[in-house]
Amino acid sequence: MSGGSSAESTAGNPVAVVAQGVDMDFGTGAMAVKNAAFSLERGRFLTILGPSGSGKTTLLRMIAGFQTPTRGTILIGGRPADAVAPHRRSVGMVFQKLALFPHMTVEENVAFPLKMRRFNPREIPERVAHYLDLVRLAGFSKRRINALSGGQQQRVAIARALVFEPELLLLDEPLAALDRKLREEMQLEFRRIQKELGVTTINVTHDQREALVVSDEIIVMDQGEIQQQASPVGMYRRPANPFVAHFIGVSSFLTGRRTGTGLTVNGTECAGQAVDDIAPGLAAQGAIRAEQVRIAAPGGDLSGCDTVLEGQVSDSIFEGERLLYFVRLPALETTVQIYHHDPAEQAPYARGATVSVGWNARDLLIFPAKDR
Ligand SMILES: Nc1ncnc2c1ncn2[C@@H]1O[C@H](COP(=O)(O)OP(=O)(O)O)[C@@H](O)[C@H]1O
Ligand SMILES: [Mg+2]
Repeated sequence: MSGGSSAESTAGNPVAVVAQGVDMDFGTGAMAVKNAAFSLERGRFLTILGPSGSGKTTLLRMIAGFQTPTRGTILIGGRPADAVAPHRRSVGMVFQKLALFPHMTVEENVAFPLKMRRFNPREIPERVAHYLDLVRLAGFSKRRINALSGGQQQRVAIARALVFEPELLLLDEPLAALDRKLREEMQLEFRRIQKELGVTTINVTHDQREALVVSDEIIVMDQGEIQQQASPVGMYRRPANPFVAHFIGVSSFLTGRRTGTGLTVNGTECAGQAVDDIAPGLAAQGAIRAEQVRIAAPGGDLSGCDTVLEGQVSDSIFEGERLLYFVRLPALETTVQIYHHDPAEQAPYARGATVSVGWNARDLLIFPAKDR
């Protein structure tokens, strides 16, 4: 069943999920979700990213139809999310707690949703085999769940969520409990499987790297409110506000006043670029990414930088592929963070060393000062 004209995005692609003016008020003080609005085209991979308690799970549960918004609407394929009985919803789900049946075999687990949905029993083995193949568990169908590794169990859960070919796949931090290496492998697996099937997917995580790696689009939430919806590159390059700049990537913040060419911090002119219109003289906040700040020996070559300042190294952290420097800038009365790649190329700057620091105007993003 396809909806009317409202079921199409401006780009003409079918819309899978739409939320409008969605609140969730548990009556405990602050609202868990406030005035959430977004739309997602069919076949896209959306990640909802935010710190713990920002309302991600609550929003996902409303999309799943487990909870009804206290205000606003969520439509899936044009129908209200909670209009269909749970076992008939065309929604596959994988949560952090996998809820697999430990005493059953892999294939029994994957067959379960098909039996619940009364699929033709003769079709079931072939479908199960197909989806176990997709998650690369073809040889494991007779294994019991508790005889599998954590990563293999994740794959079973994914196969089980996908086997009935849902319109929508919902993931609530299913990788959070895995160790880093396995988590990063599984992120790529999610991406591969999602691209292969083209199933519309909404993933919840607090891991910014995961959001950047797997998604076509990201929504950042804070305190129940959507802060920004953008592509990973768009979100990274053009954060809508200081919260997003802080939450994704490593940024340093400068507090000052807007001037014609940038930001005046403690009387020193810093070249920058305003994200919103900010009248000269108004309080403003600058954000600059650690990889956009350059570091050199005093008087070293920072030609091309629009702002160059002197500072002292207050700390450095070895991160393997790069060093992270903390450099105190007395003129600004603040400390900035600087990534320095390939540090083996030259001797690292010692703690206390005087260095030159520089950046380009386009890389210091200037936001209105926070009003909360
Ligand atoms: N059933 C509930 N009853 C009352 N408060 C809740 C309930 N579920 C979540 N909350 C509150 O709503 C806020 C958002 O929670 P949640 O959506 O779980 O955040 P996240 O998934 O981003 O960590 C939190 O303050 C949480 O305590
Ligand atoms: Mg959660």
